[in-house]
Amino acid sequence: SLGPDVVDVRSLTANGLFTYDPGFVSTASCESKITYIDGDKGVLLHRGYPIEQLAEHSDYLETCYLLIYGELPDKEEKKHFEATIMRHTMIHEQMVDLFSGFRRDAHPMAVMCGVVGALSAFYHDSLDITNERHREICAYRLISKMPTLAAMTYKYSIGQPFIYPRNDLGYGGNFLHMMFATPCEEYEVNPVLARAMDRIFLLHADHEQNASTSTVRLAGSSGANPFACIAAGIAALWGPAHGGANEAVLVMLNEIGDEKNIDEFITRAKDKDDPFRLMGFGHRVYKNFDPRAKVMKQTCDEVLSELGLEDDPLFKIAKRLEKIALEDEYFVSKKLYPNVDFYSGIILKALGIPTEMFTVIFATGRTPGWIAHWHEMISGEYRIGRPRQLYTGETSRDFVPVSDR
Ligand code: ACO
Repeated sequence: SLGPDVVDVRSLTANGLFTYDPGFVSTASCESKITYIDGDKGVLLHRGYPIEQLAEHSDYLETCYLLIYGELPDKEEKKHFEATIMRHTMIHEQMVDLFSGFRRDAHPMAVMCGVVGALSAFYHDSLDITNERHREICAYRLISKMPTLAAMTYKYSIGQPFIYPRNDLGYGGNFLHMMFATPCEEYEVNPVLARAMDRIFLLHADHEQNASTSTVRLAGSSGANPFACIAAGIAALWGPAHGGANEAVLVMLNEIGDEKNIDEFITRAKDKDDPFRLMGFGHRVYKNFDPRAKVMKQTCDEVLSELGLEDDPLFKIAKRLEKIALEDEYFVSKKLYPNVDFYSGIILKALGIPTEMFTVIFATGRTPGWIAHWHEMISGEYRIGRPRQLYTGETSRDFVPVSDR
């Protein structure tokens, strides 16, 4: 099944060949049937279906089903899956106490690493990873409870009471409800915004062997339970070079502050001696427009127009930046296109979601992808992931007692 330009080094390494590939730029860590990316052509397929078609005709939960089970559900399967996911949105009531142990000013991703990992302490009735039914229940629980935990993290940070799920509102609408309703005031779900929320989750659902998914697989390869593995994925996602980029985009837009400062920031981004990079631009795999970014851009325009925010100064800066970068020789020649995080940051800001929550929303959307990869690995043949290293430290030397140093 390997392509003509793929070297299978397994037999060669047994004979002493050693490969060195920092950043895994040209090393596949596994085989997978879930997601296909052609970065040069800007193609992204989930189980063979183009992301553009899924974004237009499908919805988040159906895409979750597709990623995990490998096929689109029929009508009955779809109904049953949606009902199951929405039925599991509540969390164990004792988990509420867990939140009060965190500082209110903690970064929401720090809280998410903790509370998602802690699911294994509350749901240990489904931790036998050799049992297919247990694996399935864990998948349901994670997809169902991530939005609840995410919204609770936000409510805790602003000192408001937790809002319990409303399962009749659907996945995206219920999330907005848990974020923005209060015990004194209902949140009226705007269908355009609920659809945008669903689409943000969908567009983040999977992206093959990125840093967080590889982390989930690596953690899972030791036999760790899925809640612990997803918590590891959340930790890996947190960094600004990965899921933290959508937050970094907003920080950058605020820092630019005014359209008249854009040129200065573009110049800084091109300066090799300046560590500043244009956040939300560039991608390791896509050397063309990220297909998710195209859909996200369209959703972004819909949301800004629905909320009448086209003339908001911050969004104007974003639009100008996008235009300049798409025309500038430096960005064009290095194929640095706006990525999915550039637009998702702007949409989330327009929805009223605070910047520190952006990566939490990415983590929520990515959960089915992490689960699908974990499940694919656990269901097949796998070995513990154990990368080698190129040792560049001291050669063997004798210990010197402290009195002689
Ligand atoms: N602004 C300015 N220059 C950039 C940028 C940028 N955003 N991104 C890359 N470059 C330049 C680099 O300086 C480098 O120039 P050189 O060839 O003259 O040395 C060249 O483009 C290639 O960059 P690399 O860092 O080698 O590319 P890599 O594939 O390792 O990094 C990454 C990809 C991390 C996404 C990078 O483009 C970046 O830092 N972007 C900003 C952060 C961001 O938006 N991350 C989100 C990624 S998408 C996601 O996680 C869903």
